Amino acid sequence: MIIRTLFLIAIFVPLLAHSINPVFNDDVLGLIVFKSGLVDPGSKLASWVEDDESPCSWEGVKCDPRSHRVTELALDGLSLSGHIGRGLLRLQSLQILSISNNNLSGTILPGLTRLGTLQVIDLSGNNLTGPIPEELFHQCVSLRSISFADNGLTGRIPDSLSSCQTLAAVNFSSNRLFGELPMGIWNLRGLQSVDLSYNMLEGMITGGIQSLYGLKTVNLRGNRFTGWIPKDLGGCSVLNSLDLSDNFLSGSLPESMRMLVSCSSIRLSGNSLTGEVPNWMGELRSLESLDLSRNRFFGMIPTTIGNLLLLRELNLSINHFTGILPGSISNCIDLLVLDVSQNMLTGGFPIRPFRPDSAVAAAVSYTNLKVLDVSSNALSGELPVNIGTLSNLQSLNLSRNSISGYIPRSIGDLNRTRFLDLSNNRLNGMIPPEVGRAVSLEDLRLEKNFLSGEIPTEIESCSSLISLVLSDNNLTGPVPLALSKLTGLEYVDLSSNHLSGNLPKELANLSNLAYFDISHNSLEGELPVGGFFNTIPPSSVSGNPALCGSVVNDSCPSVHPKPIVLNPNSSSSSGGGSSSSPDRRHKRIILSISALIAIGAAAAIAIGVVAVTILNIRVRSSMSRADPPLTFSGGVEDFSCSPSAKGVENYGKLVMFSGDAKFIAGAQALLNKESEIGRGGFGVVYRTVLQDRRPVAIKKLACSGLIKSQEDFEREVKTLGKIRHRNIVSLQGYYWEPSIQLLIYEFVPSGSLHRHIHDAGADSCLTWRQRFNVILGMARGLAHLHRMNVIHYNLKSTNIILDTSGDPRVGDFGLVKLLPALDRCTLSSKIQSALGYMAPEFVCRTVKITEKCDVYGFGILVLEVVTGRRPVEYMEDDVAVLCEVVRSALDEGRVEECIDGRLRDTFPAEEVIPVVKLGLICASQVPSNRPDMSEVVSILELIECPSEGQEEA
Ligand SMILES: *[C@@H]1O[C@H](CO)[C@@H](O)[C@H](O)[C@H]1NC(C)=O
Ligand SMILES: *[C@@H]1O[C@H](CO)[C@@H](O)[C@H](O)[C@H]1NC(C)=O
Ligand SMILES: *[C@@H]1O[C@H](CO)[C@@H](O)[C@H](O)[C@H]1NC(C)=O
Ligand SMILES: *[C@@H]1O[C@H](CO)[C@@H](O)[C@H](O)[C@H]1NC(C)=O
Ligand SMILES: *[C@@H]1O[C@H](CO)[C@@H](O)[C@H](O)[C@H]1NC(C)=O
Repeated sequence: MIIRTLFLIAIFVPLLAHSINPVFNDDVLGLIVFKSGLVDPGSKLASWVEDDESPCSWEGVKCDPRSHRVTELALDGLSLSGHIGRGLLRLQSLQILSISNNNLSGTILPGLTRLGTLQVIDLSGNNLTGPIPEELFHQCVSLRSISFADNGLTGRIPDSLSSCQTLAAVNFSSNRLFGELPMGIWNLRGLQSVDLSYNMLEGMITGGIQSLYGLKTVNLRGNRFTGWIPKDLGGCSVLNSLDLSDNFLSGSLPESMRMLVSCSSIRLSGNSLTGEVPNWMGELRSLESLDLSRNRFFGMIPTTIGNLLLLRELNLSINHFTGILPGSISNCIDLLVLDVSQNMLTGGFPIRPFRPDSAVAAAVSYTNLKVLDVSSNALSGELPVNIGTLSNLQSLNLSRNSISGYIPRSIGDLNRTRFLDLSNNRLNGMIPPEVGRAVSLEDLRLEKNFLSGEIPTEIESCSSLISLVLSDNNLTGPVPLALSKLTGLEYVDLSSNHLSGNLPKELANLSNLAYFDISHNSLEGELPVGGFFNTIPPSSVSGNPALCGSVVNDSCPSVHPKPIVLNPNSSSSSGGGSSSSPDRRHKRIILSISALIAIGAAAAIAIGVVAVTILNIRVRSSMSRADPPLTFSGGVEDFSCSPSAKGVENYGKLVMFSGDAKFIAGAQALLNKESEIGRGGFGVVYRTVLQDRRPVAIKKLACSGLIKSQEDFEREVKTLGKIRHRNIVSLQGYYWEPSIQLLIYEFVPSGSLHRHIHDAGADSCLTWRQRFNVILGMARGLAHLHRMNVIHYNLKSTNIILDTSGDPRVGDFGLVKLLPALDRCTLSSKIQSALGYMAPEFVCRTVKITEKCDVYGFGILVLEVVTGRRPVEYMEDDVAVLCEVVRSALDEGRVEECIDGRLRDTFPAEEVIPVVKLGLICASQVPSNRPDMSEVVSILELIECPSEGQEEA
């Protein structure tokens, strides 16, 4: 349509212009041509139809009511891209052109100002590039306001700008303009507002500015201007706002500035200004904001500052001010922000919170104060008793001074304060229990004082607390149980005190904890088990001689049965004789594992073993036939209690879901012992070919003595058999005999994910695209299982098989259902070969096991696939838990280092990083924080880069 139109225009413009009403059509045509240069993804300009007689009802178009010519075009924020075309030049009555906050690219149309009627041009917030054309301003006769802010314009500001005598507002902020200010810029007598902030402009700010009587706003922030503040600045008598921050200005404040009596905001921070702040500063009675921070001002802060009664923000931080903060500052009762940090101020607490003013009963100063920062000075004296009357404070920082005395009880009245830092002073006495009333506290820092007494249990009411630092004091007593109620806690440092007693084990429930330092105290007993405490670094607990637990290399007096020693290579049977002779390293591995178990699940597993044993004994005694005794060979994992296939004379029942039931003699006919292809917690898997030449994988259930009745077994297996999905290994049939049960699966030839990840060299390893495909496929398979109300329970990389096209198939699902109601301890011991994949709630018996335990395992699988590392790795003296490693790498912003090195930077970071984050979320400690698998699938589909998506089909 547009092309056709353009074609028509090209041919018929002369004709059209004379035949139909020339006035209307010039504007219609101009706008249609202009539209043809735009991309309008939201069809915002759908009303712009070339067949219309008049454009006056079109979106964003306004016309003069008499002449019906277009006078205003306002297309702000419509997500338009493309470029600004010459069609606009036909709109000969256009006064206002505003296309801000779109995505226009290309350069600025040079001839725009030839439209002699144009008063306002606003192209801010686009993606325009190139220079501002010199000829743009050659013919400007009525231009009042021009904004190109927030684009990518380069080059110098053309000197021709100075010829636009009608200009009142210029805004070129946030571009990449360089060079000096245009010559004669201060000749623009009508100028009221100039904003050239955030460019790369340089040179001196030239004199002559005093002739701009109407100038209200000057913003040159964030450039490279050098030299002095213009001496004649004070001539701009109506100046309201001056911002010269973040340049390279030097010298002192020019005397003429004392005439800026209308000025409400002066910001000069981040320069090299020097000298004293003159007394006349107090004459600038309109000042609301004064920011002189980050300069080299020195001397006393003048008393006259107290005359600035409208002052709301005073920032004198990071200078060389000395002396005291004048008491007159108490007059500035509207202050919101007072920051005098990092100077050399002396004297007592700098403000009087409460002004006993007899004239106005109960007049309280500073009721508005939100931020008070006097940190890093040399203040002494005590804190005012009534500091709590600063009831609106959100942030109070008095750190790094020499303040002494007690922390006043009224601190509890600061119930809007989020940040409170009194650290590095000389405070003594107790932490008042009233601190519990400061309920908004997020960050409490009292370290490096002389505080004594106990940590008040009342602190449990500070439910927003994220960071608590009390280190280097003289605190005694226990670590209160109250801390374990502060579930938001992430950072806790109680080191170097005299704390004693046992640590509450409930601390392990603090799921957001990332740092917990209790070193150098007198704590004793056992470290909490679980959560963050499984991976707490030894340095955070050192210096407590009576503390025990594996982290401090000191096992506790045995409360639990000795941890069972597990063979980490769980699939190799100890009877196989294949295991290498136990050398030093091997021994250490075993120690590490027992350590890990001690931390994680010693009790649970021990109970589990007992449960299995009891169950086994019960089953054994209930079996009338003389079967060989149940044996535990090697680890718990490897117990095999299936009776040897004595019952060959019996006829077993073979059911293929796609055919009829057959009765055949003996399971051995089905098993091809030579082709064992794997072992897992639930049994051995063989590959075999059925009579109809169909290759199948047959799983011989270990521990078949524990299987439910035949009826239950068949019902469960048939349910599992109904599950069909391209990412699931389908169960095709089963074989039942009282003493032996087989599950018959489709045979998937290409090997387990474990093998593809851990046994492949750099050349043959999976590419990122293949890995992503595996992750997505696993997610889809699991989501399907959950839709069918089946929990997998046993996710690990050896249970994921890749088919020949690289698609993952989830296998070994739902088998737990075939066993009688085992408790979860048995369950966790049964799948402890999957250590690292096991959701933490398995050891916590009060939490219900749901499909969210699969989501956890999935999260670990994701991390395994992305990093190429095992969920738990055993090093010389250490155990690396994958999700902790990745989590801390992510926190420290170096997550790329975790990505499998074999991918050699061939991965798109915009996919990998969200996938890692998703993995971590799935592996959240708290089940309810984990997404559902169906959500995971949708998230992955969103993450997948659209350009590469096609490869998958
Ligand atoms: C802006 O336009 C460019 C092409 O000119 C396009 O690549 C980009 O996606 C657009 N951005 C938005 C936010 O529309
Ligand atoms: C600006 O344009 C560049 C190149 O056309 C594009 O890559 C970028 O996404 C655009 N920026 C925005 C904010 O649309
Ligand atoms: C200049 O434009 C930017 C972006 O639109 C805006 O934020 C800023 O306030 C403007 N400056 C002045 C002085 O109006
Ligand atoms: C803060 O304390 C005041 C006075 O004690 C009380 O009225 C107010 O409700 C408290 N605010 C909060 C958030 O607790
Ligand atoms: C710490 O407290 C003990 C008593 O609890 C006291 O003897 C000691 O002097 C205190 N040390 C400091 C530095 O205040």
